[in-house]
Amino acid sequence: MTAAAPRSDRLAGKVAVVTGLGSGSGIGRGCAFMFARHGARVMSCDIDAASAAEALALARQEGLAIDSVHPCDLTRPEDVERLIAHAVERYGGIDVLVNAAAWGAFAPIEAMDFERDWRRTLSGELDVVFLACKAAWPHLVRRGDGSIINFASANAHVTLQGSPALAHCAGKGGVLAMTRQLAAEGGPHGIRANTISPALVVTGATRPVLEIPGFVDNVMAKSMIKRLGQPEDIAWCATYLASDESTWVTAADFCIDGGATRC
Ligand SMILES: NC(=O)c1ccc[n+]([C@@H]2O[C@H](COP(=O)([O-])OP(=O)(O)OC[C@H]3O[C@@H](n4cnc5c(N)ncnc54)[C@H](O)[C@@H]3O)[C@@H](O)[C@H]2O)c1
Repeated sequence: MTAAAPRSDRLAGKVAVVTGLGSGSGIGRGCAFMFARHGARVMSCDIDAASAAEALALARQEGLAIDSVHPCDLTRPEDVERLIAHAVERYGGIDVLVNAAAWGAFAPIEAMDFERDWRRTLSGELDVVFLACKAAWPHLVRRGDGSIINFASANAHVTLQGSPALAHCAGKGGVLAMTRQLAAEGGPHGIRANTISPALVVTGATRPVLEIPGFVDNVMAKSMIKRLGQPEDIAWCATYLASDESTWVTAADFCIDGGATRC
């Protein structure tokens, strides 16, 4: 995105916690920057302190209201508490929580180690969402108009050819189901909870697999729109879900995927 990216006051008055600021062109960074361009004050974080600092410098050049806690390991309850406390202290409350940060191992079952791959993926994809929702929950209840935006995946819906995503399917299937439950529990408190399920988006996480010969061709063969997704494609959906334009939207899943899961 460039300095000429569109701006508005769609999210004016909102405080958003957006995890995963670091990754060079990741979805968390895309959401944080877009939210700030549309009037939100954003508290972000990343386990990777250097790339989070780089993102903050870019945000400052653009005059965007983004702050960050880094390094922050969202699999550690004490780090998550620190992030949420810092957001409340700095901005006075929380209206929106975007759980974009995640880590998952990709390997076929034969090569998948229980501790190194399976358990670490479930922690990196599920614990991070549970811990952030749990820590932010009382603050979202206090505001009475909270929005939680979680990331499932096309892998939670369909089997993708050439994607050894066993643990990731379990993690993201879990995020999809737990978000529906969060929506039910949040309804009486005015808290909405929805998922976005992207197909392949060009980010720090996916850039290496795009180099594998034939990989992009396979992806395109299963896509109605013949281009790869970009973080902004996802961030526009997150902006809608964070805004008051979506106050009747909860327990929904948005497949932002160029049609990939419907092919
Ligand atoms: N990119 C895709 O094609 C795609 C597709 C489907 C779903 N998703 C989901 O969208 C979300 C964003 O994906 P992305 O491609 O931007 O990822 P990414 O790896 O590019 O960025 C994720 C960021 O989160 C940080 N992070 C990871 N674990 C962390 C932890 N424990 N604590 C703090 N920070 C941590 C990383 O350092 C990184 O900066 C993820 O939940 C991912 O599973 C992505």
